[in-house]
This record gives sequence, C-alpha cells and structure tokens, in this order.
Amino acid sequence: MKKATLTVISNTALTRDVFEMRLAGAERPLPGSFLEIGLDGFFLKRPFGAAGYKGGILTVYYRVVGAGTEAMSALTEGSELEALTSLGNGFSAEGVTRPLIVSGGLGIAPLKYLADCFAEKGIRPVFVAGFKSASEVILKEELEKICTLAVATDDGSTGFYGNAVEYLKRNPVSFDRYFACGPEPMLKGMQRFSGNGQLSLEARMGCGFGACMGCSIKTVSGFKRVCKEGPVFDAGEVIFDAR
Ligand SMILES: Cc1cc2nc3c(=O)[nH]c(=O)nc-3n(C[C@H](O)[C@H](O)[C@H](O)COP(=O)(O)OP(=O)(O)OC[C@H]3O[C@@H](n4cnc5c(N)ncnc54)[C@H](O)[C@@H]3O)c2cc1C
Ligand code: FES
Repeated sequence: MKKATLTVISNTALTRDVFEMRLAGAERPLPGSFLEIGLDGFFLKRPFGAAGYKGGILTVYYRVVGAGTEAMSALTEGSELEALTSLGNGFSAEGVTRPLIVSGGLGIAPLKYLADCFAEKGIRPVFVAGFKSASEVILKEELEKICTLAVATDDGSTGFYGNAVEYLKRNPVSFDRYFACGPEPMLKGMQRFSGNGQLSLEARMGCGFGACMGCSIKTVSGFKRVCKEGPVFDAGEVIFDAR
C-alpha cells in the first residue's frame, strides 16, 4: 500500500455513464491490484481497479452509480486526489502462455491492464468481453490490437447474443489459465465452467487495507478479506453461496 497525491490528467466520458480517468503520481501497480480514491466531502475512499499504466500515468475506468462517482465525474484536469495505491494482491500470470481473459461489464477495467502486461511479454490473449448492449461496449479498438477479442451482448445488439460464459460454452477456447472479473453471477458461471482460473471480486469496503474485516468473504480455507488477500482469488477457493 502506498499513500499518494494523484493529479487528474484527463477525465473523459466514454459512454452515457462510464468515464476514463487518467492520473499522475502513482507508482506502477500490479495488474489486478486496486486503488482507493479520496473525494472531498466523503469520509470513505472509493475502490477502483488499476486499468492501465503507461508513461507514469495510471488509468481507471468507472461507472457513475452514486454520489462519490458522480463527484468524480465532475473533476477537471489538475484536480488533486488523496489516494491509497497498489492495494490487494493482483493476478498470478507467471508461466501462463495461453491466457483466456473474460469480463462482464466494467470488469473489463483491471483485465485491460492485464492484457497490456501480456502484450509487453509478446503474448496475445483470447479476450471475451460481455456487455449489456452495444451502447455499453468500451475499449474494443484498443483490445483488438493486442488480443483475439470476442464481444458478447445480453441483448444481441452487437457480437455474440448472450453473456461471456455462454459464448465460451458455444465456442471452446484452448487456454492454460483464465482470468475473470465481472458481476457475481458471471463469476459463479466461470467457476462452474472451469476451476483453472482466477476471479477478481468486489465487496463493500471500509478501510480498504485489511484493518476492518468489512470486506470478508467465505473461502474453502476460512474467511478472507477481499482488500488484502484478494481481490483476486483462485476460482476453486471462493464459496459464493455463503456471501
Ligand atoms: C476491488 C474493487 C475494485 C473496483 N473497481 C471498479 C472499477 O474499476 N470501476 C468501477 O466503476 N467500479 C469499481 N468498483 C466499484 C466502485 O468502488 C463503486 O462503484 C463505487 O465505490 C461507488 O461509489 P459511489 O459513492 O458512487 O456509490 P454509493 O453507492 O453512493 O457508495 C456508498 C458506499 O458504498 C461503497 N460501494 C458502492 N458500491 C460498491 C461496490 N460495488 N464495491 C465496493 N464498494 C462499493 C462506496 O465505496 C461507498 O463507500 C470496485 C470495487 C472494488 C471493491
Ligand atoms: S475493507 Fe477493511 S478489511 Fe477490507
């Protein structure tokens, strides 16, 4: 964990309610780790996955869902934010040469950074990105450059008609480990699909660095904190129905 004052370099709407924020002042994070962003007038910091790091600039993608993200969307270039960076464990990609990456909705954010890291090693992942509909698709052009990309939409408005897990059942992919992030039903589906992967989880957070236990989940080896032992867990480790 690092304390940092981050400076907003840009804050751009990509869709009706999803923004890309680029921030200066953070050290290079591990893919899969997250940061907690402090906002004026809000007691609790807000957690976001590290979605890219290039030339000293950290990227996050966020959806406006409540008062905190609404306040974030109004921030302009040059605004300063108090943050905790490099939180959590990150993905284990060591030795993986045929990665399969699977996202649902904004779960694409930390996985975009993982795909960038594979690209730096000359590895081209298969990336299956699920969205509700065509109007929510983001990062398509960027990912097509570095991945073999399949887009799936719940309403069939573009790409495969169905979710990312259904896509994989219909279109078998050869892989040596998968990496998934998205809504819980999708992660449960990936757990049933194969135990040979890692799941990035979300939980309501208090402190964000392991002190309050507020983000604990049940695993096969007892309770674990999403912010400290996670947010990335082996697929076979998580007991979803106990949450
Ligand atoms: C490890 C992790 C990574 C995340 N990465 C991203 C990301 O890359 N992009 C993105 O858009 N969202 C991400 N989220 C969810 C994001 O943190 C929430 O959408 C955000 O905190 C909502 O804040 P708010 O004030 O707008 O909403 P409100 O509902 O008003 O927030 C009230 C409180 O609930 C907390 N909260 C609300 N929703 C969530 C949630 N889903 N998870 C955890 N705490 C929540 C807030 O932090 C705040 O303390 C992530 C969550 C976690 C735990
Ligand atoms: S949020 Fe406090 S222990 Fe995880």
